[in-house]
Amino acid sequence: MISRLAIFGATGDLTARYLLPGLAALRAAGHLSDDFRLAAAGREGWDEAEFQRWAQAQLDRHAGHLPAPARQAVLAATRYHQSDVTDPASVAAVIAGDGPVAAYLALPPAVVPAAVSALHDAGLSPGCRIVLEKPFGEDLHSAVELNHLLAECVPEEQVFRVDHFLAMTTVQNILGTRLANQVLEPIWDAAHIAEVDITWDESLALEGRAGYYDWVGALKDMLQNHLLQLLCLVAMEPPLSLGERDLRDRKMDVLRSIRPLTEADAARRTRRGRYLAGRIGDRQVPAYTEEEGVDPARRTETFAEVELELDNWRWAGTIFRLRTGKALSRDRKEVAVRFRPVPHLPFGHTGEAHPNVLRFGLDPENLTLDLTGIGARARDLVPLNLSARLDPPELPAYGRLLLDVLDGNAALSIRGDEAEESWRVLTPVLAAWSKDLVPLEEYPAGSDGPVPAKM
Ligand code: BG6
Repeated sequence: MISRLAIFGATGDLTARYLLPGLAALRAAGHLSDDFRLAAAGREGWDEAEFQRWAQAQLDRHAGHLPAPARQAVLAATRYHQSDVTDPASVAAVIAGDGPVAAYLALPPAVVPAAVSALHDAGLSPGCRIVLEKPFGEDLHSAVELNHLLAECVPEEQVFRVDHFLAMTTVQNILGTRLANQVLEPIWDAAHIAEVDITWDESLALEGRAGYYDWVGALKDMLQNHLLQLLCLVAMEPPLSLGERDLRDRKMDVLRSIRPLTEADAARRTRRGRYLAGRIGDRQVPAYTEEEGVDPARRTETFAEVELELDNWRWAGTIFRLRTGKALSRDRKEVAVRFRPVPHLPFGHTGEAHPNVLRFGLDPENLTLDLTGIGARARDLVPLNLSARLDPPELPAYGRLLLDVLDGNAALSIRGDEAEESWRVLTPVLAAWSKDLVPLEEYPAGSDGPVPAKM
């Protein structure tokens, strides 16, 4: 385990909401050693006291449930550096110190290549790690270039293209449920499963993130990374182990088997939308285009849906629908596996068999199975629902992810070839959208989006 972390972009939203709280959670759970040091680098010309005040306020706000000593320990281990992340000398000053450091680039995608070059020129000692957020690159071409740049800096095992969804216990439970039980595997294929809906509907709107989100949009923010990764976990062949090579090889097989979309397919099988003003519960939300920092001319989507099929033996004939949106009526974050109808219903019962659906609730965490049974009158078919709750995780996703980075365990981060393949899958969608072959639909904030999620 290494004990030095440098965060570039340390005065941003990601640091405030996730990285500082993740570190405090690690400390509270006893995973952060006393010699841990954080170099926090940002553009702001703050002095140490100003940064500490800001960081304390963020920890109070986003990690207030953690013991105060854990929050204090993180602050005490932190030093602020005003820094230009594109300037090698400035970067060298941030990463200077004894022993290897993990350089976390909490930066918008457009700045990342210059930051990686600066890290390269600053000189990284053996064992240093580079941590990159999604989206990795801005398209296939830039992802390939970024992989080349990284390969000149550190070996692939020391590159952490993180995806915090993979560090969520609920997501890991997809693997647990699939791989540690006998009942599912024999029916885990296209012969039994008609559709898989991977849905991440959020009632949250932009939350002041225009500086990032307006350049990215729903497809690149969520679908190209988090949701495709979920698809991989649902559809992959059982890996030999959950070590980095086995797990990532099996995910890569899934990505490679996704049937390439033509632009015409993309026009037929994708949707995009943008929210208008509306009410979500008791919150009045302005239209996306009225949010501070948004340029309406960019036509950034806040809703995206893509339907995919896999060309492999197990899954030929199953539809995988990936969907995400902001400012929707309610949170719905799940993987719903929809089984095909039974081949024959014995004569004599009234009503229809209710479709069997296995739902992995991702947030909140639960697992449910919709079945059909016989009702009280002995002649009716009625819905039956089995449900289980999971224990809350010991660590938040970003805590787990940071622990893996410090530990040097890359299994839950994305390998370079996976990142490129994910862009390959969505390149025709980006092309069709940029040519306006798919309309940018509008939906009121607080509605179900351009189309309701399948129940
Ligand atoms: C982030 C996206 O990666 O994931 C956000 O940038 C999204 O737009 C978030 O809201 C969802 O994950 P979580 O863990 O914050 O609910």
